[in-house]
Amino acid sequence: MRAATAIAIIGLLTTAANAALAYSPRVDYQLNCMGCHLADGSGQAGRIPSIRRTLLLFSGSPQGRNYVIRVPGVAQSPLSDAATAALLNWMVRNLSDAAVAPNFADYTTAEVAASRPHPLAHVSRARARLLRAAAARR
Ligand code: HEC
Repeated sequence: MRAATAIAIIGLLTTAANAALAYSPRVDYQLNCMGCHLADGSGQAGRIPSIRRTLLLFSGSPQGRNYVIRVPGVAQSPLSDAATAALLNWMVRNLSDAAVAPNFADYTTAEVAASRPHPLAHVSRARARLLRAAAARR
């Protein structure tokens, strides 16, 4: 076998192995998020907030989406930007109490990539501000 052919075959096998390592959003959630947020996203009283209302609520404004991508659990996970976008879109549809509007704007890889590198300085303050803004919109 010529070296170039062997290298091409190794390349193909490596690509296949990497593809096999990419998990579905559900499994990504189980591996990276569920330990804190629990299987249904309801969180843990006094420690981890429920995302069952807030994720969809925050996802409705640019500031809220920016916050969601920048919370430590999301920004610092080992998942790629593309896997993170897919995960958030899965969570919005599977861990929300309210029905998701058909015209919901999905999180995109580019959106995650743009916000993710900027850590939130004051997470709980940013969260409180978003909740106040949402209450005022009602
Ligand atoms: C070590 C525990 C922990 C892990 C692991 C974790 N989170 Fe979180 N998450 C939190 C806490 C605590 C908050 C509230 C904001 C803060 O104080 O960081 C939060 C907030 C959030 C929010 C915003 C909702 C709100 O109401 O503020 C989202 C969305 C979220 N997490 C998604 C995820 C995703 C997706 C993963 C996995 C990739 C993940 N989290 C992993 C603890 C965790």
